[in-house]
Amino acid sequence: MKFRLPQRFVSDIGIDLGTANTLVHVRGRGIVLSEPSIIAFDRATHAVVAVGTPAKAMLGRTPGTIDVIRPLKDGVIAHFDAAQTLLRHLVARVQGRSPWRRPRMVIGVPSCITPVEKRAVREAAVQAGAHAVYLVEEPMAAAIGAGLPIHEPGGHVVVDIGGGTTEVAVISLSGVVHCQSVRTAGDEMNEAIVQYIRKHYNVLIGERRAEEIKLALGAARRSGGEQSIVVKGSDAVARVPKAIRIGEDEVREAVHDCIGSIVATIRSSLECTPPEIAADMVDSGIVLTGGGALLDGLDEIIRKETYLPVTIADEPLSCVVRGVGVLLEDISLLERVSLRD
Ligand SMILES: Nc1ncnc2c1ncn2[C@@H]1O[C@H](COP(=O)(O)OP(=O)(O)OP(=O)(O)O)[C@@H](O)[C@H]1O
Ligand SMILES: [Mg+2]
Repeated sequence: MKFRLPQRFVSDIGIDLGTANTLVHVRGRGIVLSEPSIIAFDRATHAVVAVGTPAKAMLGRTPGTIDVIRPLKDGVIAHFDAAQTLLRHLVARVQGRSPWRRPRMVIGVPSCITPVEKRAVREAAVQAGAHAVYLVEEPMAAAIGAGLPIHEPGGHVVVDIGGGTTEVAVISLSGVVHCQSVRTAGDEMNEAIVQYIRKHYNVLIGERRAEEIKLALGAARRSGGEQSIVVKGSDAVARVPKAIRIGEDEVREAVHDCIGSIVATIRSSLECTPPEIAADMVDSGIVLTGGGALLDGLDEIIRKETYLPVTIADEPLSCVVRGVGVLLEDISLLERVSLRD
């Protein structure tokens, strides 16, 4: 006779497997984990050396014996084994050691994901212990997490600006009417800062340092008081340590093209929206989610460029995982919004 574990003993799990951060929601407990999607391996033995925050601290600082890997790129799995190991470690961390717990997993994935990429996520989740895997489009999960009335016929625009991708989705009647994505988001802004400092100061910095600069000074528009900070890197020619002072205006100039490309994607999505829904948007406007939404003044630029009301969701970094958390509690909505095949 097959033994079935009562559902109440199984902790179903919702996951936002992001390019920059992975967040986990456990049914009945809420968000229990938020870690950078980074894992470090010993090159010789392939043993896991660090996962999440400690692995991020190793970026650009490892000896030749350690590989630090970001398993996701542009929102999808780029290194399958590393992604699977990352998922397994994080799930084990939230579940403890109970061997019989095989949860349902609801995972947010980019809207424009290919069938092969979908299969990779499903397989990684099964390897991490899932007995059933549901995939939900991230903008849909973000809209649910942001508390938008997705069941109503009125259209809503969600712009999720993550680490790897910016996704623009028009949602109406619990479905994605139109979606468009661009591989420009937070990571590309970091890279643009690296390139700017190299070009203008001949100084090399790593992506982690570039992110710190963005968090300290990043702004999409002039803020009034122009701050600056000292940045330490390595001289590109002499290869000796060097400190330079970087100003807010320079960071703004560095990320200017990234912002242009995000705004162009939003505008092009709006152009493809059916007229009835476009009319609804005049009132409902655009909701920004994802960590990139926190870039100072980005909401204002999007408002100016689209002539629509723009709001930043509460706690934009956790909208997707809060959305999958809601779906864990509402199985009929989950069945309706999850992706087939
Ligand atoms: N205050 C801030 N200002 C600007 N950018 C920020 C801020 N806080 C976080 N970010 C950026 O947000 C990005 C991470 O956002 P998020 O966690 O939503 O991405 P993700 O879900 O992992 O990626 P994706 O959805 O593309 O797979 C990083 O690039 C980070 O630098
Ligand atoms: Mg995301």
